[in-house]
Amino acid sequence: MTKAKIAVVGAGLIGLSTAVCISDSMPNCSVTVIADRYTPNTTSDVAAGMLIPHVFPGVPVHQQKQWFRETFDYLSGICNSSQASEAGIHLVSGWQIFKTVPEEKTPYWSDVVLGFRSMTEKEMKKFPQHKFGQAFTTLKCDCPPFLHWLEKRLKENGGRVHARKIEDLWELHSDYDIVVNCSGLGSRKLMRDREIYPIRGQVLKVRAPWIRHFIRDGDGLTYIFPGIHDVTLGGTRQKDNWSLSPDPRTSKDILSRCCALEPSLHKAQDVKVRVGLRPARSAVRLQKEVLVRGSEKLPVVHNYGHGSGGFSVHQGTAKEATRLIKECVVALEMSRWKAKL
Ligand SMILES: Cc1cc2nc3c(=O)[nH]c(=O)nc-3n(C[C@H](O)[C@H](O)[C@H](O)COP(=O)(O)OP(=O)(O)OC[C@H]3O[C@@H](n4cnc5c(N)ncnc54)[C@H](O)[C@@H]3O)c2cc1C
Ligand SMILES: *[C@@H]1O[C@H](CO)[C@@H](O)[C@H](O)[C@H]1NC(C)=O
Ligand SMILES: *[C@@H]1O[C@H](CO)[C@@H](O)[C@H](O)[C@H]1NC(C)=O
Ligand SMILES: *[C@@H]1O[C@H](CO)[C@@H](O)[C@H](O)[C@H]1NC(C)=O
Ligand SMILES: *[C@@H]1O[C@H](CO)[C@@H](O)[C@H](O)[C@H]1NC(C)=O
Ligand SMILES: *[C@@H]1O[C@H](CO)[C@@H](O)[C@H](O)[C@H]1NC(C)=O
Repeated sequence: MTKAKIAVVGAGLIGLSTAVCISDSMPNCSVTVIADRYTPNTTSDVAAGMLIPHVFPGVPVHQQKQWFRETFDYLSGICNSSQASEAGIHLVSGWQIFKTVPEEKTPYWSDVVLGFRSMTEKEMKKFPQHKFGQAFTTLKCDCPPFLHWLEKRLKENGGRVHARKIEDLWELHSDYDIVVNCSGLGSRKLMRDREIYPIRGQVLKVRAPWIRHFIRDGDGLTYIFPGIHDVTLGGTRQKDNWSLSPDPRTSKDILSRCCALEPSLHKAQDVKVRVGLRPARSAVRLQKEVLVRGSEKLPVVHNYGHGSGGFSVHQGTAKEATRLIKECVVALEMSRWKAKL
């Protein structure tokens, strides 16, 4: 039987993790990633890559928790192997602090991360402006290394990558049997999806190797996330702002907010500014759709709209997308078999 040919549009975190998941679980399919931007030029490269869930209002909490748990457990396995440093995955402990005590002191994900507890009075002394805090250990994926590692895994499984901009998914109809749409914000144009919008994030990547603990203000605006090679200082959340140019005033403001929490950052070096547009949507779009033109059909599986929380859930959504693709493959085989009769 001829192999099902699958095209994955998008080479950010979501496209690559989905492509690897498909090629791991369906070795008899051919998988090709097609994208106009690759690492280090994707939104995923700008992110800190912390596994701290963000809330998708349109997705049931039990579903979000399952995606987070699957992702956390999968990355824990890599972190606990000889692959960890090449994949850019490491454990990091730290504090999430709040200026006003949150309604929910124990979030739904508290039993997925490690050692979750409320901060002690003594720990809180470092943050006199804050009233409450949570201490825990979580995982962080450093990009570009993690994207390179996923691309390598895909190629080891026989997958391919192509640099190309897609104007219309139908372009892929003649060469592929199934298309997976992981185009992030590109979906706004590509799928004419008006539900997806950017949340602009500006961050600083600095060298400050003495920083080992993460600190995140519960308002989500100010954070210090140490990685293997640099520390990500944030940030901004600007809804519907498409500007990719760094704003110098914002950079100054980020540095001063972070220094207020961690004064040693005044001595940070090699300050680089990065801007990314989070592909936001009330719910991740994980769905099958069949495009039809005349008598021709093209099955599409959508997996986009991960907004501020792609790293925290990517493996869970990749598995769900792979399940939908399997259904498409089975349907394809049925129709080929019928055509032969
Ligand atoms: C400042 C910042 C900090 C963040 N921090 C975190 C964090 O700590 N933890 C966390 O979980 N999340 C974080 N995020 C969110 C995370 O970055 C996103 O959820 C994730 O990167 C989305 O991945 P993606 O693959 O969908 O999108 P992208 O990385 O944007 O990839 C989209 C891909 O689609 C391709 N594409 C689009 N349109 C087309 C087209 N027409 N033709 C061909 N190719 C196309 C692009 O070339 C690209 O390869 C952060 C985001 C920002 C901006
Ligand atoms: C490929 O593998 C999947 C999952 O193992 C199976 O369902 C499918 O029938 C196989 N398809 C072909 C073309 O061999
Ligand atoms: C990333 O973008 C830069 C600047 O546009 C370009 O020179 C470089 O080739 C790009 N890298 C990849 C891998 O696409
Ligand atoms: C970590 O690796 C060791 C050795 O391979 C294994 O015995 C253990 O179960 C692993 N633990 C986790 C949490 O993956
Ligand atoms: C992906 O899906 C979105 C939403 O349906 C759409 O806007 C976008 O055009 C699609 N991408 C491609 C390459 O067709
Ligand atoms: C987008 O953000 C930049 C940088 O913060 C700012 O200068 C600009 O005014 C914003 N644009 C809009 C339309 O809000």
